[in-house]
Amino acid sequence: MSEHSSANSNNEKGQTKYGLMDFLALAKYEVMSMLIRFAKRVLGREKKVEFEIKSRYSVMQAKSTVVGEGLAFINGEISWFYTAFERGDHDPLTNYALEYIERNMPKSSRILVTGCGTGITVFHLSDCGFHKVVGRDVLVKCIVIANRLKEKFSYHNTVFEVDDCFNPKTVDGKFQVILAIHWVFSAWMGNYGNEKVDESRDPAVREKLLNELFAVYAPYLEKNGIMIIELTDAVADYRIVTDIPLALRSLDVYSVRHTPEQVEKCAAANGLEIVEKKLCVSYGHQPRTSYILRKS
Ligand SMILES: C[S@@+](CC[C@H](N)C(=O)[O-])C[C@H]1O[C@@H](n2cnc3c(N)ncnc32)[C@H](O)[C@@H]1O
Repeated sequence: MSEHSSANSNNEKGQTKYGLMDFLALAKYEVMSMLIRFAKRVLGREKKVEFEIKSRYSVMQAKSTVVGEGLAFINGEISWFYTAFERGDHDPLTNYALEYIERNMPKSSRILVTGCGTGITVFHLSDCGFHKVVGRDVLVKCIVIANRLKEKFSYHNTVFEVDDCFNPKTVDGKFQVILAIHWVFSAWMGNYGNEKVDESRDPAVREKLLNELFAVYAPYLEKNGIMIIELTDAVADYRIVTDIPLALRSLDVYSVRHTPEQVEKCAAANGLEIVEKKLCVSYGHQPRTSYILRKS
């Protein structure tokens, strides 16, 4: 599944046109997924659902919006944005972040979701009853899809805008919660049109990048507000190729990685303290740690 870069053939209005082969590829994907789910059920291998991402739309309604807006394929492959609506409880760190917010933050909280994609986590938080949830993403198509879902399913307390979340121009006011999950480590690698970081194994480069990001967002946090950030863990530096499905290639994937000590140091330099953290080795190419940081 492809997560990155831009889509395929456009018509004269700039809209992506899908042909018969594209629809056949989607149909094949859906049939295969259905067969796998069926086989798991028959063999008693179904996983107990631990966490539900809330939404007022069905997976199929969301996917057809993604198809309609031309984001179902990226570089000829079915995109992450199409399949992401099946995420369910598969990513322990998404569950961790969303559950932490729901359990610990007042419903009156104003929430900023950076790198929000098509709005999945924004809609979840809105459905949890948070009063104001705003999403920003650098990809225009993501924001168009998020706004379509917002209008169609009456998510009136959400706001979506296109922005570069490394250098936001549209964010104003203060927030009780700022979420930066599942994008920063990938963006640093040069995906989604971002500039690729050089010398990404240098600890000084890693610290500089994190300090810059915290310096952007700490001023937007209310006192005692929290920022949740997901980072590739520097434990990935110690992997050996036989650990990893894609072997050597994977050693360079998401190569901006941080140790907990670095995160603590950068957080402190920006008036933030680590409240909690969780390391996860599933769902994704590398081990990742999510940090809950509080503004003192
Ligand atoms: C894998 S998706 C994750 C979306 C969402 N965070 C989630 O967990 O469902 C990564 C998203 O980060 C966005 N992104 C990457 N670089 C960005 C940047 N500089 N500013 C804003 N969004 C960015 C991409 O456009 C994409 O929608």
